Amino acid sequence: MSGKAWGGRFQKSAEAWVDEFGASIGFDQQLVTEDIEGSIAHVTMLGACEILTADEVKTIKDGLEQLKIKAENNELDFKVENEDIHLNLEKMLTDMIGPVGGKLHTGRSRNDQVATDMHLFLKKRVKEVIGLIENFQQAIVTQAEDNVETLAPGYTHLQRAQPISFAHHLMTYFWMLERDKQRFTESVKRIDISPLGAGALAGTTFPIDRELSAELLGFSAVYQNSIDAVSDRDFIVEFLSNSSLLMAHLSRFAEEIIIWSTDEFKFIELDDAFSTGSSIMPQKKNPDMAELIRGKAGRAYGNLIGLLTVLKGIPLAYNKDMQEDKEGMFDTLHTVVGSLKIFEGMVRTMSVNKDVLHKAVHNDFSNATELADYLAAKGMPFREAHEVTGKLVFTCIQKGIYLLDLSIEEMQKESTLLEADVFDVLAPEAAVKRRHSLGGTGFDQVKIQLQKANELLK
Ligand code: ARG
Repeated sequence: MSGKAWGGRFQKSAEAWVDEFGASIGFDQQLVTEDIEGSIAHVTMLGACEILTADEVKTIKDGLEQLKIKAENNELDFKVENEDIHLNLEKMLTDMIGPVGGKLHTGRSRNDQVATDMHLFLKKRVKEVIGLIENFQQAIVTQAEDNVETLAPGYTHLQRAQPISFAHHLMTYFWMLERDKQRFTESVKRIDISPLGAGALAGTTFPIDRELSAELLGFSAVYQNSIDAVSDRDFIVEFLSNSSLLMAHLSRFAEEIIIWSTDEFKFIELDDAFSTGSSIMPQKKNPDMAELIRGKAGRAYGNLIGLLTVLKGIPLAYNKDMQEDKEGMFDTLHTVVGSLKIFEGMVRTMSVNKDVLHKAVHNDFSNATELADYLAAKGMPFREAHEVTGKLVFTCIQKGIYLLDLSIEEMQKESTLLEADVFDVLAPEAAVKRRHSLGGTGFDQVKIQLQKANELLK
C-alpha cells in the first residue's frame, strides 16, 4: 500500500525524493481556483444527469465551496506527497466531508481535469493581457499626440535616412501591438473549448453531459474527440508564441528607448521612477527597466521552444511530459504582464527632448531625397537625379556644410534644373509635411492615423 489516491495496485511507496521529482504542486497550485471551479461544474453535471444523488452533490459542493474560501484566504496547506493540485484538493475534500468526496472523480480523470484547468486559466489571463496591451497603446497614442509636429531623424541601418514626425515613429509600435492584440483575441476561440468529460482518453461509460459542464464553466464549445481533448496543448503553444512575438516588439522598442536615452542621442529622458543609478558612478541614470524587458524576451522564447520540444515526440494521449507545460506558461504570463505594465509607465512618463530632435534633423543630410525628388519632378530620370544629389552631398561633406548651406550657383554647377525654390523643398519641415501619401509621415497623415488609433481604443 502506498497511501496514494492511485495506490491500490502498489506494494510499496516511492521515497520522498522520488515523489518530489514527480510532484507539480509547487507550481500548479496557481490553478487552485480553476480546479475548484471545474470540480463544482463537474459535480453539478453529475447531479443533473442523476449519476450522483442530490444529497451527495450538495455535500461535495459545500465542501468545494469551503475549499474555495480557504484558497482565497491562503489557508490551504498543500503537500508534496499529494503530488499535484488535483489530488491535494481531493484529499482535502475527503478529509473534510468523508468518503463521499471520492465520488467527485466519477466519470473524470486528472487528464481532462488538468486540461480543463489550463483552458480556464488561460482564457481569463489572455483577456487580462489584452487589457494591458490596450493601456500601453493608450500611453503611446498620448505621447504621439504631443509630438505630431516634432521633427525627428528617421533611420535605416541606424544611419539618418529621412526626416519624420516623431509621432509617426512612436505609432509604429501602436500598430505592432494592435496585431499582438488581434492574435491574442483570435486565440481565445481555441482556448474557449471544454475538454471536461473526455476522461483519461476514451470518454466514459457514465451518462454524462459534457455540454452542460462546458456551459456551467462558460466555455463556448467542447472538444469533439476525447483523445484530442486530453492531448492538445496547442492553445498553450499559441499563447507562448503570441507572447514571444509581443516580447520581440517590446524588446525592439526597449532597444530604441535605451539608445535614445544615451548622451550621444539624448532624444528622450526617462522618468526617475523608471530608471536606476549606479552604486559607484554617481552621475549614472540607467535604463534598467528597458534593458530588463529586452532581456526577458529571451526567456519568453525559451519557454516557447521548451514546450514545442516537449510536445514533438510524445505519443497520444496524456504523457507525464505534459506536466512540463505549466512552469513556462506561468513564467511567460508573469513576464508579459510585468513588461507591459512597466513599459506603459515608462512611455507615459518619459520626456521628449524636442529641441535635440529638432537640431538633429537640421544638421544632417536626411533631406537629400527631397533634392533628388525635386529633380525627378522636373523630368530628370530618378537615377540621374540620385547621382546629381550624391555629388552635391559629397561637395558639402568636403566643405563641412549641409545642402541648405549651398548657394544656388554651386547647385546649378551640377544641374540647371535646380532653381531658388529648391531651398523651400529642402527644409526638413517641408520634407515631412509634403509626405501626404496614405500612411506617410506628413502631419495630416499622422493625424489621420491617430484618429484611427483612437477609434480602435474606444
Ligand atoms: N500533474 C499532472 C499534470 O500537470 C496532472 C495530470 C496527471 N495525470 C496522470 N495521468 N498522471 O500534467
